[in-house]
Amino acid sequence: MAETLFEELKRYVGFSPEDAQALRSLHSVVREHFARIAEVFYARILEHDGARKALEGGESQVGHLKGTLQIWMDQLLRGPWDEAYFELRCRIGRMHVRIALPQHYMFGAMNVLRQEFNALIDSYYRDRPEELDRVRRALSKILDLELAIMLHTYREDLLAQQARNERLSTFGQLVGSIGHELRNPLGVIETSLFILKGRLPSGDERTAKHLDRIGEQVAIANRIVTDLLDMIRDKPLKREPVRLSEVWHSAITTVFLPAQVSVREQGLSLLPEVQGDPNQLRQVFINLVENAVQAMGEAGWVELKATAQPDAVELAIEDSGPGVGEAIRQRLFEPLMTTKARGIGLGLPLVKRILERHGGSITYAPLSAGARFLLRLPLGPQGSSHATLPTAR
Ligand code: HEM
Repeated sequence: MAETLFEELKRYVGFSPEDAQALRSLHSVVREHFARIAEVFYARILEHDGARKALEGGESQVGHLKGTLQIWMDQLLRGPWDEAYFELRCRIGRMHVRIALPQHYMFGAMNVLRQEFNALIDSYYRDRPEELDRVRRALSKILDLELAIMLHTYREDLLAQQARNERLSTFGQLVGSIGHELRNPLGVIETSLFILKGRLPSGDERTAKHLDRIGEQVAIANRIVTDLLDMIRDKPLKREPVRLSEVWHSAITTVFLPAQVSVREQGLSLLPEVQGDPNQLRQVFINLVENAVQAMGEAGWVELKATAQPDAVELAIEDSGPGVGEAIRQRLFEPLMTTKARGIGLGLPLVKRILERHGGSITYAPLSAGARFLLRLPLGPQGSSHATLPTAR
């Protein structure tokens, strides 16, 4: 059978059955120090501004993490160092990747553990230099293996990101040419429709209805083409002072709302003006409200809550729909991600790009029931019109 990655790594550092034995003997010595070492470990993280920021759940998370670090140390020195061990370590590595923990903190943190264990080895094996040497070497190998696994998960993530970028780049080129090609036939259909409507004998309601229907569908197709082209090229921002309450009210008049769906807002009229492109910001609201309405079906509510911060306005758009499943949250803002029977998954990516062009951002923050999007728009003119879809070289 082919060698697994973990077997290969162990072979590379020369991890042997003697090392395994040495680690188990070290385990019985240091076990009673696990709780103290976990204290030292997190105290060092909390002392450091940059590292502390990586604790996304805040310091309240540390209590839980101290417990899991003790389990981690227990497994580190007790083994078995098999494929299940490797998989578990990969899962932990992916957690660090998920919280975007910079890799250099992993090295710093591992060094804290190395020093703590080495100090214990120095004192416990003081009178047995050969054993001391053996245990120290075994410890060094397993900690290096741990680092190698952590780096492996970062690389895995990078490769996945690259593959996504390549997909998006091919997508961008394809979409550009299809979009342009579709504009012409759609234009011809529109013109012919106009002529046919002019020649329609009065009283032919059935034909009139069908012509209207063709017109509606052409409008939908045009909108899809516009969204696609907006996605791939950077529509320049026309900046001007914007009252978001006006943009919001104009946006919701264009969204089809079933009778039992209500849309409300609070705080918008109190916001200062932002610098932005009212048409593009209107598109942001239209896409988000349309998404919410389509997700909830016939009845429910959508609510926008606005607050002003010293340097930005913050908007939370919440709805009573089913919310976004965990599996797709991470890819929610990628083009072509859709859970809807209709639509091609451009609404949210477009929203994100428009906000980014304004120097703002959007994130998804689930409610206990329903969806919530948090938008931030800076008050100063910090936007850029350079956020582009990756293009093939
Ligand atoms: C040698 C270095 C490290 C080891 C051995 C380690 C160990 C672990 C373990 C075992 C978990 C899983 C917890 C669980 O199952 O719930 C975890 C998660 C986590 N670690 Fe580390 N960690 C290291 C470095 C760091 C550093 C340097 C930070 C921050 C500065 C950090 C922050 C976190 C956070 C925030 C989580 C929770 C992630 C989540 O809930 O998705 N870790 N770590």
